[in-house]
Amino acid sequence: MKKLLVTGGAGFIGANFVYYILNKYQDRQVVCIDKLTYAGNLETLKGVMDNPNFKFVKADITDRETVFKLFEEEKFDAVINFAAESHVDRSIVEPEVFLKTNILGTQVLLDATNKYNVPRYHQVSTDEVYGDLPLDRPDLFFTEDTPIHTSSPYSASKASADLLVLAYYRTYKTPVTISRCSNNYGPYHFPEKLIPLMIVNALHDKALPVYGEGINVRDWLYVEDHCKAIDMIVNDGTVGEIYNIGGHNERQNIEVVKTIIKALGKDESLIKYVTDRPGHDRRYAIDPTKIRTELGWYPETDFDTGIQKTIDWYLENREWWQNVMDGSYQEYYEKMYGNK
Ligand code: NAD
Ligand code: DAU
Repeated sequence: MKKLLVTGGAGFIGANFVYYILNKYQDRQVVCIDKLTYAGNLETLKGVMDNPNFKFVKADITDRETVFKLFEEEKFDAVINFAAESHVDRSIVEPEVFLKTNILGTQVLLDATNKYNVPRYHQVSTDEVYGDLPLDRPDLFFTEDTPIHTSSPYSASKASADLLVLAYYRTYKTPVTISRCSNNYGPYHFPEKLIPLMIVNALHDKALPVYGEGINVRDWLYVEDHCKAIDMIVNDGTVGEIYNIGGHNERQNIEVVKTIIKALGKDESLIKYVTDRPGHDRRYAIDPTKIRTELGWYPETDFDTGIQKTIDWYLENREWWQNVMDGSYQEYYEKMYGNK
């Protein structure tokens, strides 16, 4: 029986990963630690709370004493670090917590991995560490050798964490792997990121705030394909290596918004072009050759299928998103979009 520590498992991708692992393997135990920030919700983990192979612990990854105690008690076979402050817009308004959680939290987990000789530490990173690509060069893609060149406090904090992970590998021989994935979408995505925000606003006939001209490009990956890739890396990836994850599903933001409008039978007059994000990255695009050739990973869900599945999920799970959009969400929304 293998025991995994999943940090940030009450958030979007971490929770999808918890479900993926517990559905796929009968012989895995998952311990999830999560601080339950605005982005983490126990409602999201309702489906596994009674599973004997699952345990939830409310904890902050920067809390060294609690983390070390947990490592001592549980004797993990692998640590998969999803826990992070993950929203670029929030990092522009309030960077400090991004540095604390994303960098110092990673260091605490790496120290615990070393002290308790955990055989594998996996860092869930992002394509944003590579900065952006020009819009007029569709021939360019991020490879694992693309230099780090960050744009926002969020991406700078994620890149710092990656460098720390690689430094621990070189200095202490910590058995690490890193994955850098493109934009995810799917169930349990908090409705302040582009896709769920547009679905929820459109359902309420509320304005759909598109930054700038809406021409920025993101490379969308259905969340289950990301979970599959991480599982493969943890099982068979080479220690010390970085793996890019992406499925060549590039779309301009405005195309994504119009697809959602059409699928919900709404009118394009809901679109409202608003002030651009400062430092807004133009285009992300992943070259996934390494993970495909070395580990045999490929994405199973293309964008047209995935977006329809996602829209259906939001239509069928109104209670989930209505519950997570509490008073603090309304406050956030007013602050971010009130004057735009
Ligand atoms: P999310 O914001 O939905 O979830 C983050 C989770 O981490 C939440 O449950 C939150 O409560 C928890 N958390 C935050 N601070 C914590 C702390 N100090 N201690 C313990 N738990 C804490 O984020 P997500 O979109 O699920 O992203 C998960 C990871 O994947 C992040 O590391 C992110 O950088 C990375 N990533 C995200 C995407 C994407 O498109 N969303 C793409 C590539 C990589
Ligand atoms: O590329 C991976 C990254 O993708 C992850 O590392 C981040 O954690 C994740 O949040 C995501 O970052 P983005 O900034 O790309 O995602 P977001 O959903 O915030 O924005 C997607 C695009 O849509 C971006 O170009 C900004 C734009 N946008 C976003 C919002 C919230 C709008 O036009 N309007 C909006 O209201």
